[in-house]
Amino acid sequence: MKRSAVYPGSFDPITNGHIYITERAAAIFDEVRVSILVNAQKRATFSVDERCAMAREALSHLPNVKVEYFEGLLVDYVRQAHSRVIIRGLRAMSDFEYEFQMALMNRQLAPEIETFFIVTDPKYSYISSSGVREIFQFGGTVQDAVPPGALRRLRERFPGQTASDTQEALVPATEHGCARLSPALRGPEGRAALSRSGRPDGPAQ
Ligand code: PNS
Repeated sequence: MKRSAVYPGSFDPITNGHIYITERAAAIFDEVRVSILVNAQKRATFSVDERCAMAREALSHLPNVKVEYFEGLLVDYVRQAHSRVIIRGLRAMSDFEYEFQMALMNRQLAPEIETFFIVTDPKYSYISSSGVREIFQFGGTVQDAVPPGALRRLRERFPGQTASDTQEALVPATEHGCARLSPALRGPEGRAALSRSGRPDGPAQ
């Protein structure tokens, strides 16, 4: 019988940490189903189709990995997939409490299903999808944290926010009396806004 495992998550977007966990799982199980949660209550940055496309592209080097999506209870989906294993990655002790609770809830719902934890490589321990989105939106560099396809889609989703075309700008003193370094005013729009404000060259005195 095929040893199949489900690796569920939001993958919004997939990161290098997710890829690492999938690679480790794919070396142990005959089949790994990377399963993207469709959560109507939580607004994701990327659509399910976009998340699937990014994950498929990033995992195309692993022939025994499939990318799918699911709605509803994870354990129902795992049963439908004829699997008995849930894979979750652990980055730090701070992940453990949430993951432990989730594993116990899932065991309560489906005692035959086992949760397998795979510890990340330390070089990915700081990476999260939410961190990547936030850093990118404020003009930071995320190319070491996500695969090229995810970086491309981040650039499409947040045009003008790429680190290469941003320049930190000190905006002149506000009504609060202090200058501010404004990520919102970085990039071409930021420079235009600075020219409009009469301070084309940046720093407030
Ligand atoms: O990548 P994430 O956001 O940490 O993944 C969380 C996920 C998708 C594994 C979890 O939210 C989930 O399984 N949701 C489906 C609903 C469910 O089964 N909930 C009960 C277990 S907490």
